Amino acid sequence: MPGGCAAKAARPLAADPLTASPGIHAYAGSVPTPSRTASGPLVRAITTLVKYSAVAQRNDALVAEQLQYYRARAAEYDATSYGAVSAEMASVPAIVDRLGISGDVLELACGTGIWTAELVRHATTLTALDGAPEMLELARQRVPAGVHFEQADLFNWTPTRSFDAVFFSAWLSHVPADRFPGFWSAVASALRPGGRAVALDELPARSSHEQEIQGEVAVRTLNDGTQHEIVKVFWEPDALVKSLTRLGWRASVTSIENNWFILDGTRA
Ligand SMILES: C[S@@+](CC[C@H](N)C(=O)[O-])C[C@H]1O[C@@H](n2cnc3c(N)ncnc32)[C@H](O)[C@@H]1O
Repeated sequence: MPGGCAAKAARPLAADPLTASPGIHAYAGSVPTPSRTASGPLVRAITTLVKYSAVAQRNDALVAEQLQYYRARAAEYDATSYGAVSAEMASVPAIVDRLGISGDVLELACGTGIWTAELVRHATTLTALDGAPEMLELARQRVPAGVHFEQADLFNWTPTRSFDAVFFSAWLSHVPADRFPGFWSAVASALRPGGRAVALDELPARSSHEQEIQGEVAVRTLNDGTQHEIVKVFWEPDALVKSLTRLGWRASVTSIENNWFILDGTRA
């Protein structure tokens, strides 16, 4: 499966990034605190607002750096995610076959097209988005026909049409907690009534593959030695289902091989 990197030390992770937001804890230290004499609901509300706005600012920078990281990683992506773990790569066609995806399909964060190449066998039409032109170029080479590729920043994305299914692999874990509701609202607006959101991602057991992780922030190193901070949220299945239920989804999360999960959701 994609997205893994060399194993070093992993730090403890929060179970539910929405209710125990690791990103918020990670950056709360830089937030001004009220004076000792001040108290009451107004001060608490202001403190919370200041904290959230500090987190939002920090996450703007983090998601921008994350996209730059993937642009720089495009050429080495297949070798460092799948090539190193050929058994995982080999399981992709069978996983896609059992997802039962059909009709007009939208793939988000398609990367080099590893899943696109399989989705195209099942879709009536397939649109694949990614924020990195370098990734899209490789995906176009891998799947030269039958796919409409588009560049889009998923943190500033408004769907312009609707689909029977929206699919994304190794993307949800790159969505910080404060962008989670907005992201799912965009997915909802990309789906026709009864449409499915299907996502694959890594279970918390895979956090040991990260070189370094603190809260929602992981450090990744490219082949040229440059280090990049990205978002990495390892969802516990129950916490993910609960968070989606709160946002008006009916969702199930199933663990699969190699410590990955499949999320299947429709609007409740
Ligand atoms: C871990 S890769 C997953 C690629 C592919 N889905 C797979 O499973 O092999 C994450 C992908 O998200 C894309 N990405 C990162 N930030 C993005 C953003 N803000 N908007 C759209 N795509 C973004 C990267 O370019 C990269 O292709």
